[in-house]
Amino acid sequence: MRTIQLSSPGGLDRLHLVEAEPRAPGPGEIMVRVRASSLNYHDYIVVKGGVPTKDGRIPMSDGAGEVVEVGEGVDRFAAGDSVISTFFPRWKDGEPDSYAISEVPGDRGIDGFASEFVTASADGFSHAPKGYSHMEAATLTCAGLTAWRALMVNGGLKPGDTVLTMGTGGVSIFALQFAKLAGATVISTSSSDDKLKRLQEMGADHIINYRKFPEWGQMAKELTDGRGVDHVVEIGGSGSLAQSVEACRHGGHIAMIGVLASRDEKPTPAGMPSPMVKVMMKQIRLCGLTVGARRHQEDMIRAIEANGLRPVLDRSFALEALADAFRYQETGSHFGKIGIEI
Ligand SMILES: NC(=O)c1ccc[n+]([C@@H]2O[C@H](COP(=O)([O-])OP(=O)(O)OC[C@H]3O[C@@H](n4cnc5c(N)ncnc54)[C@H](OP(=O)(O)O)[C@@H]3O)[C@@H](O)[C@H]2O)c1
Repeated sequence: MRTIQLSSPGGLDRLHLVEAEPRAPGPGEIMVRVRASSLNYHDYIVVKGGVPTKDGRIPMSDGAGEVVEVGEGVDRFAAGDSVISTFFPRWKDGEPDSYAISEVPGDRGIDGFASEFVTASADGFSHAPKGYSHMEAATLTCAGLTAWRALMVNGGLKPGDTVLTMGTGGVSIFALQFAKLAGATVISTSSSDDKLKRLQEMGADHIINYRKFPEWGQMAKELTDGRGVDHVVEIGGSGSLAQSVEACRHGGHIAMIGVLASRDEKPTPAGMPSPMVKVMMKQIRLCGLTVGARRHQEDMIRAIEANGLRPVLDRSFALEALADAFRYQETGSHFGKIGIEI
C-alpha cells in the first residue's frame, strides 16, 4: 500500500511516499481502505514539526473510506461500510479525561490516515453520513465535529441566537453551516472581501472584514443592537480574544478553539482591564474544548442526514501531493476544506 511518512524532525520536505504492508485486523479492529482525508491547521503544525512525533509517523487526523475486513468481536461494522475516523479514538462518551484524549491519529501517539489502508480499533470509527462521498465524510472528523460541539453541545445553541464566526477555515465554515441549520443569526468575519461575499451567499446575515476593521468586536455588537452575540467561535486565541469579548453579550459563550491570531497579539494598554478580567465581569463562559466524543459525532451525523447539509470543499490534492496541499493551506486562500484523495 502507498503511505506517507513524516521523517523527524518534521517539515514539508520531510513527507515521503513509501510502500508498506497493510496489517490484518486483530480482535476488536477493522481494516479500512482509506479513500480521503482533509487538512486541518493541527495537521499543518504536526507536519511542520511543531508537535514532536516519532520518525516515520503517518500524518493526518481525518480519514474516511470503506471497511474491507473486520476482526473478531466487531459487530458495529461489516465489510463495505463507509466509515469516518474519530479524532480521539479512545474517547467514546462522557467527560474527557487524560486517557480519553491521549491518542490522536497522525499526532504524537499513533499513525494517521495519509495511507491507503489503516488497521485500528473499531472504537475509533463511526459510520459516515448516508449519501456522502468519502471526501465529504473526511471533512467531519476534526473541523466538523469541533464546530458542532462548540455550538450544539457546549453552547446549547437555539434558534434566534446570534453566532459570530471568524475567518473562512474549516471550523468556521462548518460553524456557519450548523448555526444556520439551527436557525441562528450569523455574523461572519474574513480578511478578504471576496470570501465575505461567499459567506453571504452561504447565509451569513452580516459580514465584517477583520483586517479593515480591527474593532470588529464592537461592530459585531452593534449589529445585535448593542446586546452582544450569544456565541463566538473563537479560532484566533489571545490575539483576538479582546474583540471576541467585546462582541459577546453578558452571560454569552465564547468557544475557545484556535490560536490563529495569537501571533498578532498586542499588549493591553495600561489601565484597561485585560480581556480575562472582562470575561469575568461579563460572566462569559469561556469553554475550552478539543473536538468531541464519538457520541457527539453520531449526533452530528444524524443532524446532517436529517437536513441534507453538505461540506464546503475548496480543492483536493492526491496523496503524493500532500506537501503541496499544506503549502496551499499556508497561503490562506482556501475557503472551507482542503481534501486529500487517496
Ligand atoms: N480546539 C479544537 O478542538 C480545535 C479543532 C480544530 C481546529 N482548531 C484550531 O482552530 C483554528 C482554525 O483551524 P482550521 O483547521 O479551521 O484552520 P484553517 O482551515 O487553516 O483556517 C484558516 C483561516 O483562518 C482565518 N484566520 C487566520 N488568521 C485569522 C485571524 N487573525 N482572525 C480571524 N481569522 C483568521 C483565515 O480566514 P480568512 O482568509 O477568511 O481571513 C484563514 O483562511 C486553528 O488554530 C486550529 O488549531 C482547534
